[in-house]
Amino acid sequence: MGDGTRHLRRDNESFIKWQARRLTNTRTFASLDHESETSQMKRVLTVKDLSAMGIGAIIGTGIFVLTGVVAHERAGPGVAISFVIAAIVAGLAALSYAEMACLVPIAGSAYTYTYATCGELLAWIIGWDLILEYLVGAATVSVGFSHYLEAFFKDAFGWEPQTKLMRAPFAYQQDAFSLTGDWFSLPSFLIVILLTILLCRGVKSSARVNNILVVVKLIVIVVFIFGACKWVDPANFSPFVPPNTGKFGEFGPSGILRGATIVFFAFIGFDAISTAAQEARNPQRDLPIGIGLSLVICTVLYIATSIVMLGVVNYTEIAGTGRGAPFQVTAAATGMKWLSIFCEIGILAGLISVMLVLLIGQPRIFFSMAVDGLFPEIASRLHPKYKTPVMTTAIAGVVCAAAGGMFPVDLLADLTSVGTLFAFFLVHCSVLILRWREPDRPRRFKVPLGPVLPVLGAACCVGLIAVDSVSAIIRLVVWLAIGLVFYAAYGSRHSRLNNPERYALSEPMEVVGERHHTTHEEVKGDASPLHTSTPNDVKV
Ligand code: ALA
Repeated sequence: MGDGTRHLRRDNESFIKWQARRLTNTRTFASLDHESETSQMKRVLTVKDLSAMGIGAIIGTGIFVLTGVVAHERAGPGVAISFVIAAIVAGLAALSYAEMACLVPIAGSAYTYTYATCGELLAWIIGWDLILEYLVGAATVSVGFSHYLEAFFKDAFGWEPQTKLMRAPFAYQQDAFSLTGDWFSLPSFLIVILLTILLCRGVKSSARVNNILVVVKLIVIVVFIFGACKWVDPANFSPFVPPNTGKFGEFGPSGILRGATIVFFAFIGFDAISTAAQEARNPQRDLPIGIGLSLVICTVLYIATSIVMLGVVNYTEIAGTGRGAPFQVTAAATGMKWLSIFCEIGILAGLISVMLVLLIGQPRIFFSMAVDGLFPEIASRLHPKYKTPVMTTAIAGVVCAAAGGMFPVDLLADLTSVGTLFAFFLVHCSVLILRWREPDRPRRFKVPLGPVLPVLGAACCVGLIAVDSVSAIIRLVVWLAIGLVFYAAYGSRHSRLNNPERYALSEPMEVVGERHHTTHEEVKGDASPLHTSTPNDVKV
């Protein structure tokens, strides 16, 4: 496995067998360890930064918007049970993520884990799929941001901007697009561009901003819970789970289950912590702590918030789909106007921190893929001063901003959820494969109970995908098919693992970590140096 010739066709090997072997070639642990040790990214993130990063990504549109949607249309006050189910699925994924983050402590998240375990083809699929979670997820939240900004202008200043530049031009209902008459959501676009500029300047300063935003968000949620709990009327909890209407997913047990797939969006983001493994001071110890801490804190807050909210306002009157703002409705029901405005400010800050973390994650996945040769090398350049993957940050930011300006929130959210569940499924599979392939490799964190929990976690992911709408599953398949075309056209021909002869003199994949120290020019004459920012560049 370590001779640097694994990509070559063997004597008497059939073409199909050779190609199958190339597609399932995995990166070696030696190369991953080397990459971790020689990373040029600054190791500055502490447990506090990592936990704040997790909370920053987790608490957002899910609790602020979807709680009302699910309570109103699917589960009534039983939305609290939906949160518990979603938390269990996310918790199982968190355990597997923590084990993998300790084994593969470099940037790249599920993409890197899959490369180390299942081979290049699946790694590509997951890397491509993660665009749905990070880039499309950030776009989803940016649309929510513009909705809340509009509400804040109205509540705080009585100002309703009369312009076609506040909302997306497309709507998506019952599997069909329609035009809304609006032109573009300028606030969604601008907020993403602003955050992208911040991120290009460096992850530490961004982490500081994120820490402040997270504190603001937590204070707002705690004030909301304690401020509104006096108005809880136990009569609103009866029935706690309204009877099913006769249609699958509308109240009753199936409504709780369908509700869980929707509020699952509220837990997306904790895995963004693992994408910063290369920038963590002590990834083996700090990543599992950061992931676990952020998930537990958020779950407790979600359950408390939904119980108070549905105790104050009857589920039939809570804000449902569209521009619903359940925090506003609840605060208004208490008669405390200051609480409404206070919540809106917190929600805006909260949504900024979600976007910030998701936008930190996406470029680092592109970066890892470019370093592996699956994306053009331009994506692997670090900024000479800030040491951030500036190219990918800028490209991801612009695409995300454009998507946020153009598309409706429900379409984007749907894509994000199903894409993330698929990524979680592959992470569970990676844990199981590595337990079998590398049983003796030291694990500072290991998911307890042998293979039981990863198997259960993988089954839960499949279950939640199956409960999602058919159109969402079709969109996932189409997106992955587009990715495969890209892979065939570029990735498979440029992958360092399978095409070492395209790269400089002596760089088999086994010494891939050297990429961070040496400038390599492509043998075929592109003459584009990799990592122009690295100090030890040597022209070939
Ligand atoms: N969990 C994040 C949110 O709810 C994505 O906005």
